[in-house]
Amino acid sequence: MSSTSTPVLVAVAWPYASGSRHLGHLAGAYLPADVFARHQRLKGNEVLMVSGSDVHGTPITVRADAEGVTPQDIVDRYHGEIVRQWGELAISWDLYTTTGTENHAQVTQEMFLAQLENGYIDKRTSDQYFDTEAQRFLPDRYIEGTCPHCAYGEARGDQCDNCGKTLDATELINPRSKITGASPELRSTEHFYFRYSDFNERLREFLQAKQGWRPHVLNFAMGWIEEGLHDRAITRDLDWGIELPVDDLGPGKRIYVWYDAVIGYLSASKEWAQSQDDDERWKHWWENDESRHVYFVGKDNIPFHCLFWPAQLMGAGELHLPDDVPANQYVTFKGGKASASRGVGLTVQEGLDLFQPDGLRYALAANFPEQSDTDISIEEIARRINEELVATWGNLVNRVLSMIAKNYGEQPASNGRSAEDEAILARVDELLAAADGQLGRVELRAALRFAMDAAGEVNAYLNATEPWKLAKTDPERAGVVLATALDAINGVRVGFGPYLPFSSALLDDILGPVEGWQRVPVAPGTPIAKPTPLFVKVDVDEILGEDSDDESA
Ligand code: MF3
Ligand code: ZN
Repeated sequence: MSSTSTPVLVAVAWPYASGSRHLGHLAGAYLPADVFARHQRLKGNEVLMVSGSDVHGTPITVRADAEGVTPQDIVDRYHGEIVRQWGELAISWDLYTTTGTENHAQVTQEMFLAQLENGYIDKRTSDQYFDTEAQRFLPDRYIEGTCPHCAYGEARGDQCDNCGKTLDATELINPRSKITGASPELRSTEHFYFRYSDFNERLREFLQAKQGWRPHVLNFAMGWIEEGLHDRAITRDLDWGIELPVDDLGPGKRIYVWYDAVIGYLSASKEWAQSQDDDERWKHWWENDESRHVYFVGKDNIPFHCLFWPAQLMGAGELHLPDDVPANQYVTFKGGKASASRGVGLTVQEGLDLFQPDGLRYALAANFPEQSDTDISIEEIARRINEELVATWGNLVNRVLSMIAKNYGEQPASNGRSAEDEAILARVDELLAAADGQLGRVELRAALRFAMDAAGEVNAYLNATEPWKLAKTDPERAGVVLATALDAINGVRVGFGPYLPFSSALLDDILGPVEGWQRVPVAPGTPIAKPTPLFVKVDVDEILGEDSDDESA
């Protein structure tokens, strides 16, 4: 590795293995992370991209109870489905694991003990809702009621799915048991608490030093600091979850899912190191001031990643803190927030059944909810694919490769370029550099726009130079124009590469692999055969005819 290479941790939110993930999750976290990681690798940085399925907590057990199966059955089913989809989408994980591993339990318990030792965890008695019919406590999602912030009627004990606010079950209006429907009573129970309030000032300094963060992320996190962080229970009355490394709470208590899930970033890094037969390798990212840690999450995860996880890290010792949390806003489907638990929006599988993976990746990336909530529909995905991806990029590649294949069979010589020829190449370079800057700032939607603009300008160059006419009147000039167009394409494909791995691989077969973030000339004489189209057009009438009700089902 060269000395300019930076270790970059691409840390991606851990999806609950509690149900099928939807396109909102994909556009909110996993796809942005993959695009960013691919760009970082091309820049020569040492990327470690980790995540896994979040297998604990009440999202899993509530589902298992409802189906009359074990939590592990639910985990196996959905973890399997999620992993298969990563393959179909070419999400380029270095490691995608789960929080159900022995390694993860051990790393979590070690962190707990270190914080206990350091005085940041203590034991307290508090009142929790108890279902007298079911004879059990009702943690998190076992309790529902009306949200005190937005009045949504089905808010859960841990979070409101409608406004995204993090809740404490005792704040709910008209709470009811998810198990029996009964109104629960408060009973006292003992739990371990993490002293988040001890970190309020250190977190304020940590956040104040951040440059270039998305304003909505920083403002949201700072809002919590201004109000003052509260200590929170990090254990639950559940029998599903990581066991406590100390036994003084008695049976039936487990570590809270949100406390353990974020530790996954560290435990997965250690698991990855072991898989490389280099057990200490994780330190290159975690015990290194020079590394850069970027967390890809949805906005409902902001407090966990900008406040609670940094506090856990500070409380455990000298581990690298988050450098950026470019959290996304929500994807809405025809106005409704996409939600797996409420069944709004297309699932990832439905998206993959309807569209080519690059088409889906493109349409979602063009609509990444980076600045504001963004509405997606089947029509919008189809429009992006047909009017932009196929019409502009696919068509450009297809016509240039076809003309070269037909007339020359190889990349023609380009001696004697005109100012117009030089100008289009310079323009592609300029747009590629602009995209590079935006990708580095995690403005992935804007960076994609630059790539598409570059493709559009190469199309305009062809329309102005008309090589198909020149082929008859001035074949030599036609060769120079087409060679220039292919050189330009060789630059544009670099810009599309992080977004479109499948069609990029087809171009790699013809033009050779892309080895850095720059345009390189296509060597004259490179064989060019008649191409197969990179993308297929979507027939939206056919899709909507078959599936017109699916989106809101
Ligand atoms: N499974 C949780 C969610 O989907 C947590 C994701 S991020 C984690 O919201 F790192 F904390 F796992
Ligand atoms: Zn709400």
